[in-house]
Parts: sequence; C-alpha cells; structure tokens
Amino acid sequence: MKIAVLNGPNLNRLGKREPEIYGSKTLDDIAAELRSAIPEAEFEFYQSNHEGDLVDKFSELAESDCQGVIFNPAAYSHTSVALRDAISASGLTVIEVHISNIHSREQFRHHSFTAEVSKGVITGLGTDGYLLAARALL
Ligand code: DQA
Repeated sequence: MKIAVLNGPNLNRLGKREPEIYGSKTLDDIAAELRSAIPEAEFEFYQSNHEGDLVDKFSELAESDCQGVIFNPAAYSHTSVALRDAISASGLTVIEVHISNIHSREQFRHHSFTAEVSKGVITGLGTDGYLLAARALL
C-alpha cells in the first residue's frame, strides 16, 4: 500500500517548536518510526508551509497510485477552504492527524474545515497519531 504523509505549516520545526505541546520528536523521527513499524507500506513524506503547494500535492496524488493520505494540515485546518476542496476533489482517503488535542485548546482551533472531508480524525495522542492513522488506512 502506498501512503502519503503530508504536513502543513510550521511542522518542519517539530521537535524544536513548543515541545511542551508537540513533544520532542522531529518529522524525520516520525518517518523512521512509520517505516520501521509498518514495513509492508510504502511511505512518501511531504511538508510545506504554503497552502497552494499542499493543494498542488493533492492534485498530484490524485493522479498517482497513492491509496491513502495521513494529513496534518496544522493551522490550515482551521482556515483553508482551498485544502478542504482539494481533499474532496482528490477522491483520496484522508486521515487527519493533530498531535495536540485541538478541542482542549483555543476556541479558534476547535473547528477544522479539512476534518469535514476526511475519513477520520486523530487528535491529542501525540506523534503516535501518525502510526495509528497508518494502521487505520491499512
Ligand atoms: C496541530 C494543531 C493546530 O491547531 C496547529 O496550528 C498546528 C499543529 C497539531 O498537530 O496539534 O500547527 O495541527
């Protein structure tokens, strides 16, 4: 199974960014964990701080043999109709992941446009959320 793991803005700084909220693991650590825990899947990792690049990535994946997407849209979850539409238009099965529990934080984080068109959402289970999402896709 081919799974794309997409991460949105500021997640390039995971491990250094607000570790009391997001923990100390980096995106590279998460990639290594996924590859070692689930060797039967082929993972592609992509991170961008730019909304349009993430929209373009969904278009590209829609035309590929990718079978599922793990997506942490980060702050764009709460603002981006463009990414919501990109997910819908792609026809791909998407599991949204948030490292922190967005419902126990500021009010503006409680709504996610992208969650509305995702198959499921994992929020608040730390970086294990990526692993759980991959297992759900499998
Ligand atoms: C996040 C939660 C978002 O509200 C925030 O903007 C992020 C990270 C998370 O993984 O907990 O950048 O998606």
